[in-house]
Amino acid sequence: MSAPVTDKPVLNTEGAPERLFILREIFRGRRLLLAGILGLSLIATAATLVLPWTVGKLLQAIQLGGGLAEWTWLMVAVGLGSAIANALATYLLSRIGHQMVWRLRERSMRHSIGLGLRTARQEGTGNLATRLTADAAALKSIVDIGPIQLPMSLVTLVGTMVIMGVLDWVLLVITLAAFLVAVGVVAVVVIALRRKYVAIQNQVGSLTEHFVATMEALTVIKACRAERTVSAELAGRAERVARCEIGASAMEALIVPVINLGQQIALVAVILGGGARIAGGDLELSTFVAFLLYLFQLTAPLMMAMSGMSTIQAGLAARKRFEDLFALPAEGLDAGAAGDAPRLPVAGAPAVRFEKVRFAYGEEPVLNQVDLTVPATGLTAMVGLSGSGKSTVLGLVERFMDPQEGRVEVFGHGADQWPLADLRGRLAYVDQGATLLRDTVRNNLTIGREIPVADEDLLRALRDVGLEEEITRLPDGLDTVLGGNHDLSGGQRQRLALARASLSDAPLVLLDEPSSQLDTLNELRLRRLVDEIGRDRAVLVVAHRISTVRHADHVIVMDGGQVTAEGRHDDLMRTSPMYAELVHGQALGTPEKTTAALTGGDR
Ligand SMILES: Nc1ncnc2c1ncn2[C@@H]1O[C@H](COP(=O)(O)OP(=O)(O)OP(=O)(O)O)[C@@H](O)[C@H]1O
Ligand SMILES: [Mg+2]
Repeated sequence: MSAPVTDKPVLNTEGAPERLFILREIFRGRRLLLAGILGLSLIATAATLVLPWTVGKLLQAIQLGGGLAEWTWLMVAVGLGSAIANALATYLLSRIGHQMVWRLRERSMRHSIGLGLRTARQEGTGNLATRLTADAAALKSIVDIGPIQLPMSLVTLVGTMVIMGVLDWVLLVITLAAFLVAVGVVAVVVIALRRKYVAIQNQVGSLTEHFVATMEALTVIKACRAERTVSAELAGRAERVARCEIGASAMEALIVPVINLGQQIALVAVILGGGARIAGGDLELSTFVAFLLYLFQLTAPLMMAMSGMSTIQAGLAARKRFEDLFALPAEGLDAGAAGDAPRLPVAGAPAVRFEKVRFAYGEEPVLNQVDLTVPATGLTAMVGLSGSGKSTVLGLVERFMDPQEGRVEVFGHGADQWPLADLRGRLAYVDQGATLLRDTVRNNLTIGREIPVADEDLLRALRDVGLEEEITRLPDGLDTVLGGNHDLSGGQRQRLALARASLSDAPLVLLDEPSSQLDTLNELRLRRLVDEIGRDRAVLVVAHRISTVRHADHVIVMDGGQVTAEGRHDDLMRTSPMYAELVHGQALGTPEKTTAALTGGDR
C-alpha cells in the first residue's frame, strides 16, 4: 500500500500531543472534596486497624472477668463507623470518576468532530466510539482505585504490619518471609498484564469499527444475502478479542490464589512459631490471637493492592488510547494558516481558481496539473467520467484536504490563507450523497446557523425544490425526525439538501451531482433555483445531465484527473472532442455507458 496522505493539520488548536494526567483531571477544582474523602478513608482504615486490637482487649476482659460491655460497644461503634465511612468515601469517589469520564467523553466527541475529514475516516467511527464506551469505563477504574483505595490499602498494609511487629516481631519476620515469594510472582503478573490490556482495547476498538461499518452497509449485505459471511467474519474478530481476554484472565486469576497460598503458608508458619513461643512463655495467648487476626486481615489489603494495580494497568492502557486520539490533529476553525489572514474577498477575483494543482490520496495523483476558473457569478458546470476527480476538486475548495502542489484560490486568496470558518462560511455545499442528519427536517435545513430561520422561509425553500407538500404531510411537519420511522426517498433527500444550500446566502454554492436522482419536473425546478442563485453568486455544479450543462455559463471538462477544456457549451462542442463525445455518447443524460467510458479504460 502506498503511504496514506494525512490531513495537513490546518492548525492544531489543542496544541502538541499531550499526556492525559488523570490525577490532575481528578483533582482539578475538588481538592476539598478529595480531602474529605481522604479523611473518611482514613477513618475507615483506622477503624479496620483498631478492630482486632479491640478483640484482643475483649478476650483479655473475658480472661480477667468484667468490663465486657464497654469493649463490645467499642467494637460495634468501630465496625459501624468503618462501614459508613467506607461507603461514603466509595460513593463520593465514584461520583468524581463519573464526572471525569463525562468530561473526557465530551472532549473526545468534540475532538473527533473537529478532526480533519480524512483523519476521522482513517480512524473509523467505531474505533472513535469505543473511546466513549469501553475505554471510558476502563479509565474510570483508575479513579475508583487510584487516588484513595490503593494508597489506603497500602496504608492498611503497612499499618497492619507495624502493629504485628509491635505485637511480636519474630512472628512478623516469619509472616513476611512466607509472603515474599507470593508477592513477587503477583508483581510480575501485574506488569505483564499491561501489554495484554493494550492489545485487548485496540482489538475491541477494531471490532466495534467493523461492526459499525457493517451495520451502515446493512442494505447491501441483506440484498446480497451476505449476512452469514459477514457475521462469520465479525465472529472471527470477536473470537480473537476473546482469546486475548482469556489470556489476560488466566493471568488475573493467579493473583488471588497466589496471595491466599502465601497467607496459608504464613499461617502454618506463624502457628508453629507462635505455639513454640507460647510454650516457652515468650508470648501471651491474647497477643497471639490478636496477631493471628492481623494476619488474616493482611490478605485483604494485599489483594486489593495487587488487583488494584492490575485494574490500573487496564486504565493506563485506556489512557493511552485517549492520548492517541487527542494527539490527532484537529482542524482549526478559528485561525488561518497565515498570521494576518485576509477576511475579505478580493474585488473582481473569480470565485475559484486552481493553478497547477496536484493532489493524491495515496501515491498516484488523482488531480494533476489542474488549472480551472469558476467566475464569481453565474453557473459553472463540471463534467467528466466517473472517477475523473470532480468531487475531489470540490473537496479541495472546501479544504477537506490540501493539494500537494499548486494553488487553490477562493475569492482571490489562497484557500489556506482564509481562516477555515470564514472560508466555509462563504461556501454552501451539497455532497454527492446528499447527506442528511438523523434529526428534524428543520435542523437539517438550518444546521450550522446560529440565528433561527422563520418557518415561512423554510417552507419557501422547500417549495422551491418541490418538497413543501411532502414535508407538511409528515406527522410533525418541519419537526419530524428523519432517519427513524420517517425517511425520505433518494430524490427527496437530494432536494432537501438543495433546499439547505438555497437557504444559505453563501457567495459560492457547490453542488455535487444534485440532480442524479431527480425526475424531469424536479430537474426543471433545480435549474430554476440554480439560475436564481447564479444571478448574483457563483454556482459550481458537477453535472451529468446535458440540460444542466448546455444551460451553463461556463463548462469545465475533466478527464483522468486533468482539465481538458473550459468554455461555453457551443464552443466546447467544436473545440473539445472529449466533450462532444460525452454529449453525443449521452454520458450526460442517460445511464448508458459512453464510447469514451468503454474505451477509456479504468480511470
Ligand atoms: N477518500 C478517498 N481515498 C482514496 N481515493 C479516493 C478517495 N476518494 C476518491 N478517491 C479516488 O480519487 C479518484 C477521483 O475521485 P472523485 O470522487 O473525485 O471522482 P468523481 O469525478 O467525483 O467521480 P464520480 O463521477 O464517480 O463521482 C478516483 O479514482 C477515486 O478512486
Ligand atoms: Mg464524485
